[in-house]
Amino acid sequence: MANLLTLKDWSSTDIQQVLQLAAQMKADYSAFDQTLKGKSIATLFEKPSLRTRVSFDVGINKLGGHSVYLDQQNGALGKREEVKDFAQNLSRWCDAIVARVFDHNTLIELAKHATVPVVNSLCDLYHPCQALADMLTLQEQFGELKGKTLAYVGDGNNVTHSLMFASAKLGMNMVVVCPEGHFPDGKMVLEAKAIAEQQGATLTLSSELAALEGAHAIYTDTWISMGDGTSLDEIKAKFAPYQVNSAMMQNSGAQFFLHCQPAYRGVEVSAEVMDASNSLAMEQAENRMHAQNAVLKILVK
Ligand code: CP
Ligand code: NVA
Repeated sequence: MANLLTLKDWSSTDIQQVLQLAAQMKADYSAFDQTLKGKSIATLFEKPSLRTRVSFDVGINKLGGHSVYLDQQNGALGKREEVKDFAQNLSRWCDAIVARVFDHNTLIELAKHATVPVVNSLCDLYHPCQALADMLTLQEQFGELKGKTLAYVGDGNNVTHSLMFASAKLGMNMVVVCPEGHFPDGKMVLEAKAIAEQQGATLTLSSELAALEGAHAIYTDTWISMGDGTSLDEIKAKFAPYQVNSAMMQNSGAQFFLHCQPAYRGVEVSAEVMDASNSLAMEQAENRMHAQNAVLKILVK
């Protein structure tokens, strides 16, 4: 693979390879500490970040490489100079570009003009690095993902899209429960459903909480993503029944809770659930680094 823009482009085997490599790295970095020796990787951000920024920086260091952090640059790329020029200039010094952008098209433009791999570290449509870390986290708990069901509850967003593709490609069932009008993108749902079917898995959408029954894990994310101008007051009443709390966990019978973070306790998740011993949120955060390191080892030549 040349880039990681969306997991839709990566095969089941590619994704399995990432998970296997990530697990190997997590167990022992000593065989990988020269992987990025002499390599420099630009990480650029149009939006805020804690986990992505730190996990890439520390991870690249663990692989013996050097990371160059470019902050929000006062807003979107392409204002001071064209995205094309960003891509071409960075390619002259760096061995990969990791980018968090508002618009997926910026990533497409970067990848078109860069001569080094481009990794999507979140855009309006996808968050593939997150979904890889989440699949690694679930695999650590369940061993085999096939036959297990991941439920996503809340706002159908970038994280949902990447989880749909990752679980479909790995043959994991997925149930997506959202309030009416907040479902994931319809075209992506159809694409992910077709992949799930090929892998002998299912992808089900519903607005009914009853659809959560039998899920092995429940995942949620913020109700308002970065770049979405909706005010919480506007949607609070509509989303309130979809808060992941102890009653929801109990009624569904789910063993684990997942959240990509940042988490808003008392909004999309109760503090009790977020901080419970079966919450995998911090495992997911740690696994971001291992999954991304596996991606960099595969992509950076
Ligand atoms: N989950 C995640 O991407 O966190 P940050 O926004 O802090 O990077
Ligand atoms: N859906 C969230 C994820 C944050 C990591 C957002 O895009 O803001």
